Amino acid sequence: MSLQLNRTEFGDPANTGNVLSKAEALALLDSWVLNDRLKLHMKQVAHLMHCWAAEKLQLDEAGQWRWEMAGLLHDADWDQWPDQHCRKIIEELENRGVDPEILRAIASHGPAHFGVAPVSAMDKMLYAFDELSGLIHAYALMRPGGYTGMDVKGVKKRLKEKAFAASVNRDEIYDALDRAGISVDDTIAFIIARQGSVTT
Ligand SMILES: [Fe+2]
Ligand SMILES: [Fe+2]
Repeated sequence: MSLQLNRTEFGDPANTGNVLSKAEALALLDSWVLNDRLKLHMKQVAHLMHCWAAEKLQLDEAGQWRWEMAGLLHDADWDQWPDQHCRKIIEELENRGVDPEILRAIASHGPAHFGVAPVSAMDKMLYAFDELSGLIHAYALMRPGGYTGMDVKGVKKRLKEKAFAASVNRDEIYDALDRAGISVDDTIAFIIARQGSVTT
């Protein structure tokens, strides 16, 4: 099975700035994603994207929502149509006339799988947060205090333990951080401090 998208252009530049409303994006998420664990993952990544856009880039509210929306819908087709990931959600959002920036970020969240390189800051951060967020949440689930008291050192230990959250691809995490030009420690700390607030 190949998930290669075999293209590098997404959406219509005329749709620049077009987004779904938050209610529309959540309705799409709820109707396509039946698995609560996956829904939570998408909302966690969305929150991290929002925080990065707001805090690190000082984007305005519209910019923050574009980043959040990319996170919120990046795995929308993974639950029911894994063999069409992420082709199906891209086509859906193209049909709805969504901003190419968001489509491109979704298309490049797994360069090894989809064959699309992350280029923009949005592309790179979605790729960087995706797997690392999942590993940190898996760690929170096994800690008695969850996110409370979690530190960078503990996460790095889990990162080195191949058997822990074995489905999380370590090579992709390092590749993503490298491409984004951000440090492992800082990114882990950023996630720990923010991800625990997203619970449903
Ligand atoms: Fe994905
Ligand atoms: Fe994901």
